Amino acid sequence: MAELYIPRAHSNSWYEHLATLQAGYYYPWNSEIGERNGEQAFLELIEEYKGQAVNVLEVGCGHGELALSIADRYGHVTAYDRIPSYIELANKSKDDTGAGNVEFLCYDAQNPELHQTTLPARTDSVDLIICRRGPLHWIEDAARVCRDGAWIVALNPMEEPIPAWSSKLPHLLHFENSGRHTGTGSIHQSVENRLHQAGLTLHSGWSFDVPETFGSTHELYRMITWGLPPRKIPSYEDIRYKLDAIFDRYGEKDGIVLRHCRFLWRAQIHKSK
Ligand SMILES: C[S@@+](CC[C@H](N)C(=O)[O-])C[C@H]1O[C@@H](n2cnc3c(N)ncnc32)[C@H](O)[C@@H]1O
Repeated sequence: MAELYIPRAHSNSWYEHLATLQAGYYYPWNSEIGERNGEQAFLELIEEYKGQAVNVLEVGCGHGELALSIADRYGHVTAYDRIPSYIELANKSKDDTGAGNVEFLCYDAQNPELHQTTLPARTDSVDLIICRRGPLHWIEDAARVCRDGAWIVALNPMEEPIPAWSSKLPHLLHFENSGRHTGTGSIHQSVENRLHQAGLTLHSGWSFDVPETFGSTHELYRMITWGLPPRKIPSYEDIRYKLDAIFDRYGEKDGIVLRHCRFLWRAQIHKSK
């Protein structure tokens, strides 16, 4: 039997496939995430750079939720993503909110043929680059688009331990195949490497590792099957008995507990005159 092709999570083809399964980029499960998990710290950090003269560039904006939620505190926000349906959704939300200072672009910053990364902004035009849970390739072109003294603030998923119960499930549903699994190794190291290659240095980095609790087998099923081709995987009913057994053996008081890990970091652009 031919082996089933599963795109690597967070590859271009994975996002293209995900866009056919759900409208916009979001986690489709309900869970309880512990406090101080990095997401709020990221929002607070970008607030430190607010100002009506600040020109923001958001990388990999998904369906535009972040750009629209911060727009009134900044001069102008340009946000881009390579998935057309995400940008369509972003523009619809923009029409609803009337945010006149946000521009959404459907744009791929990477040209695989030329092995080149080009951010959609003019040289010396950006004061703040933000990226929430997005890729890292854009770092290569960050210094060009930024003004002297500009900041980069980013939040990246950090590799989480593979839960012991993962191997109790059919191979396709192993944790490593879920979109939740980053498979990136040390994100801290990857960020440092990318910055170094671009002639930049990390100013600060913070790691967050808190519990995330899945209270039902159904929500756990949603997580492990996220981004997988629905017609090729066992249905919830088919594997419910396995999920029940996992809850019986590995569940804590409120359900199955995973780690929710994030790396928050910032870097400053210093341009030599
Ligand atoms: C993990 S999602 C995060 C979306 C959003 N920032 C959020 O917090 O919900 C990463 C996004 O980066 C986009 N992306 C990845 N590589 C890209 C590229 N080369 N050019 C533009 N967008 C890209 C993907 O399409 C995806 O929407």
